Amino acid sequence: MNSVAESRTAMRSCGAGLVGLEQAGTELQIAGWVHRRRDLGGLVFLDLRDRSGVLQASVGPGWSAEEAVAAARELRAEDVVHVRGTVEPRPEAARNPEMATGDVEVRVSELRLLNRARTPAIPVRRAPGEELPSEDLRLRHRVLDLRRPELQTALALRHRMLLATRNYFDSQDFLEIETPALTKPTPEGARDFLVPSRVHPGEFFALPQSPQLYKQLLMAAGFDRYMQIARCFRDEDLRADRQPEFTQIDVEASFVGPEDVYRWCEGLMAALAPVVGVEAEVPFPRLSYDEAMERFGSDRPDLRYDLEVRDLTAALGGLEAPVLRSATGAGGRIRGLLVEGGASLSRKQIGGVEAAAKAAGAPGLLWAKMGEGGATGPLGRFLEEGTAERLGMAVGDLLLVAAGADLTTSPALAAARAAVAEAAGLRRRTAHAWLWVTGFPVFEEAGGGALAAAHHPFVRPAAADLPLLDSDPLAVRGLAYDLVYNGAELGSGSMRNHDADLQARILEMLGLGRDEIEAKFGFLLRALRSGAPPHGGVALGADRMAACFSGASSLRDVVAFPKTTAARALFESAPAPVASDDLAELGLRLAADPGRE
Ligand code: AMO
Repeated sequence: MNSVAESRTAMRSCGAGLVGLEQAGTELQIAGWVHRRRDLGGLVFLDLRDRSGVLQASVGPGWSAEEAVAAARELRAEDVVHVRGTVEPRPEAARNPEMATGDVEVRVSELRLLNRARTPAIPVRRAPGEELPSEDLRLRHRVLDLRRPELQTALALRHRMLLATRNYFDSQDFLEIETPALTKPTPEGARDFLVPSRVHPGEFFALPQSPQLYKQLLMAAGFDRYMQIARCFRDEDLRADRQPEFTQIDVEASFVGPEDVYRWCEGLMAALAPVVGVEAEVPFPRLSYDEAMERFGSDRPDLRYDLEVRDLTAALGGLEAPVLRSATGAGGRIRGLLVEGGASLSRKQIGGVEAAAKAAGAPGLLWAKMGEGGATGPLGRFLEEGTAERLGMAVGDLLLVAAGADLTTSPALAAARAAVAEAAGLRRRTAHAWLWVTGFPVFEEAGGGALAAAHHPFVRPAAADLPLLDSDPLAVRGLAYDLVYNGAELGSGSMRNHDADLQARILEMLGLGRDEIEAKFGFLLRALRSGAPPHGGVALGADRMAACFSGASSLRDVVAFPKTTAARALFESAPAPVASDDLAELGLRLAADPGRE
């Protein structure tokens, strides 16, 4: 809330959290929730709370109406009340510097109960150090949970972030254009949420996984700078950083190159910095995809730490360790992390790092600690002094090693890097590490010699790589980039194929037949053939940004009504069964509907 005057309504003079010494002596009315009640016999102290904060009110026989004293005695946590009273400075000894309104209290003359609250299933006010109830319980009682100041603050930050985003793109002459929520099912249909058409039984709309194709159509239509704060829907396995419905800051522009997109995103982050309290020194550093995978094992490395993956094949390839032998024998590499001072980690902690690597798909990690008496650990006994020295391994260091194909060792070492940075408390270079990762592959292997789109099928290959489309498609790099912040992928984008023939050729390489291409993408190709300008863009994950910027560990803490990892909404209980008659009207019948079998 901005100010006392702006927070005024028919039922209150101002927000509870905005009252201060400037109002001493004035009469005001406050409306809000009973945060806490303390009954000191003759005197009742109420902490009144609303979105703006908490204010102490005192109800006592000397200054409150008789009914007010009686009503105050009956109040319980989360009851909704209205009070009238006078602002009084608190005596020096009773001031509370921890509270924004801690210099004053309201001496209540009249008190009215506006609504009674049932005993809250979870507490809104927690005693210092009191743990939060389980997340399931909190989501089941989300309305109470949302009253917590942390969530109120996070949603307010999200609001300010999106408002500043719209203003920024407006200042750069972008138009916000809404695209449909009822769309054509996509080829990767497995992740579509489908909506049956009542009017056309047997046919379906899909909720958009992103506005990707519509924004390309808008470019063909001549809206050369588009943005949208767009809701997207994906029926995929959920994690802390994924929701089935989420919000993108979706951007597309014509007659641009990647540099333009970088500049706009950097401009946005610089504009958001003061709003969300995050530093964004622009331009952001850049790393090619190949280099990121080589040096960090990840395409979204957390650059707050210096620790890099090293190729140790030459240094350790001669050791007798059987795991290393078999990996190099099969054409793999030995790669590892040398963690300065990491020898102080306990076996249990190293076990935790190894578990992270295994969860990322590695069979295991080898490790060695360097102590005063030489190297120890499963790898330590194979390490001769000369080898350790050549590696630059000093007393107190820890060496973590993975051997095998890069496809396995990269994710394993990336996971180990994150886990060991946490466990060893590695010194951070900075609190805000931004990065562009550029030049992503266009294709990836889909098994059996088939190709899949590494990101989506509309990424434009780098001009220099066009000759590789036939000879070595997996080596083709795209004009594609990700924006990474502290190890999280905040956004992703690319230049697109405005040349319809090239676009059709790529779809064919992905295994689509001509008829299928026409049926699924005919509308896009028609738009491209109608004179589409060269174009490209990016989509930033608004939920991920809000989570990163507010320090939340899960997207669920920056979404008012999120779904659980089991893809359910617990407060309102969704999804829910639908009566067979209602399904019948949509031309649908459940395969396992006992009433119809
Ligand atoms: P992509 O699929 O990479 O690209 O999505 C862009 C960004 O959206 C966010 N995001 C998600 N956030 C929360 N929950 C999810 N399930 C989820 N999935 C994605 C991420 C991600 O970086 N149309 C392209 C963009 C483009 O090429 O312009 C697209 O959707 O932060």
